[in-house]
Amino acid sequence: MDTIIGKLDEQKQEALNKAAQIIKNGGIVAFPTETVYGLGANGLDENACKKIFDVKNRKRDNPLILHVTNQEMVEELTSEITDDQKKLMDNLWPGPLTIIFKKSDKVNDVVSCGGDTVAIRNPSNEIARFLINNSKCPIAAPSANISGRPSPTNAQDVYNDMKGKIEMILDGGNSNIGIESTVVDLTEKPYTILRPGFFIKEDLEEYLDEVVYDKSLVDQNVIPKSPGQKYKHYAPKTKLVVILGDMNNIKNFVENLEIDTKEIGFILSEETAKTVDYENIKIISKRNDYLTFAHNIFSYLREMDKFNYKLLVCEGVKEEKMGISIMNRLKKSCANNIEQI
Ligand code: TXA
Ligand code: MG
Repeated sequence: MDTIIGKLDEQKQEALNKAAQIIKNGGIVAFPTETVYGLGANGLDENACKKIFDVKNRKRDNPLILHVTNQEMVEELTSEITDDQKKLMDNLWPGPLTIIFKKSDKVNDVVSCGGDTVAIRNPSNEIARFLINNSKCPIAAPSANISGRPSPTNAQDVYNDMKGKIEMILDGGNSNIGIESTVVDLTEKPYTILRPGFFIKEDLEEYLDEVVYDKSLVDQNVIPKSPGQKYKHYAPKTKLVVILGDMNNIKNFVENLEIDTKEIGFILSEETAKTVDYENIKIISKRNDYLTFAHNIFSYLREMDKFNYKLLVCEGVKEEKMGISIMNRLKKSCANNIEQI
């Protein structure tokens, strides 16, 4: 059998080299990952990391994820690696999982926001991996949106938020998954999911005895353990209402809004869309196809936001499987403006 070596074409190689050079020089490059686009800087360079906070307008108490490509890098950045941390790294990396570790002295206070832990992720996206390897450093990267806006899942959405503010955007097409990584704290028991994503509790429990969701994910009155989760998030500028329940009632619900339906943008499942004839509908996925729903949601919210509708109406999903992670994002996007219909 012939073994084929997949070579990156020349133009792509050139862009990637340039990007790595910018990172080495202390600049910022937005790059694709399998979850969402990241806003990357040299994670060991405090000043470069500070710039990330400035361009995003990010609160200073919200720590950054360091992106790596191998276990040696994790060893450098942590003071200990437990058996359970190793188990998740071995089984679920590279991929959409961020693990919290006890940090080493190598992790600066800008990244950790003064805490004694560090969030680390090993992404699977080929461009992200190349960038990390060629920059020869862990890359600190939050999602590449202005704080509070939906995370960008394509280069154009990054450009809309970041033009003129950062040196470069690497265009890797649409993010595969579309919502941010699962964040799990393994520094103390019970192991806690701070942010659900592609992986939910049951996926992690294949490898760990017990995992719980952070209380704030189930009770809105509890302050989240993860700093980033306490802020209003992922929000379009247009007012958004998320509808749940029996979609046979959608016409009644919309009538009662007393807004001309031409002035409403709808994001609906294929099944619901078939039952109505509103003007501005984007079909997001089949009702139970959570993978496609997650893939599209942030880009659709951004797209619908451009039309200055009076209201956006988005059909929600069941809080089961990856629907848990989708509803986590939607609740923040609509500031808990959820209607049971
Ligand atoms: O998929 C993702 O995770 C994307 C891509 C670019 O990798 N990144 C991302 O970063 O979503 P960001 O900064 O938007 O969200 C990181 C979340 C925040 O809620 C932050 O508070 C939390 O992780 N976090 C970071 N370091 C932490 C730590 N040491 N302890 C607890 N939470 C932490
Ligand atoms: Mg973010």
